[in-house]
Amino acid sequence: MTQPTLFVCALCKFPAAESGAGDSPGGQHLIDQLTDRLKGEITLQPVRCMAACDRACNAALSAPGKLTFIFNDLSPRQSAHDLAEFCRQYAAAANGKVPYGLRSPAIKQSTAYVLPPLLSEPAPIPIA
Ligand code: FES
Repeated sequence: MTQPTLFVCALCKFPAAESGAGDSPGGQHLIDQLTDRLKGEITLQPVRCMAACDRACNAALSAPGKLTFIFNDLSPRQSAHDLAEFCRQYAAAANGKVPYGLRSPAIKQSTAYVLPPLLSEPAPIPIA
């Protein structure tokens, strides 16, 4: 089974409520907090802008055959624990569908979109 990948925008800023938090962007701070927590279980993939800059911090969790979760408004300082826990729940769930009642309040609040799994092979397009 392929290890899930957590994409995190490294360039997202700290939200105003967490300003003055240092030299690195909020997204990089979140990545730094996640690195050890996810080691060996989830592939952590930094990305440069996910085109939702006004909803920083942004992340997405995906794996072949599983749902894709897109998160925004993640706190760089406070969401690493909940996000790492959700990644482990996602990895253990057959299709990535973590029961809603098992998700932390922070994950419930920051889940922006959930996409269905990609089809392993595209459906044939009928030719007229
Ligand atoms: S800088 Fe993070 S989404 Fe654009």
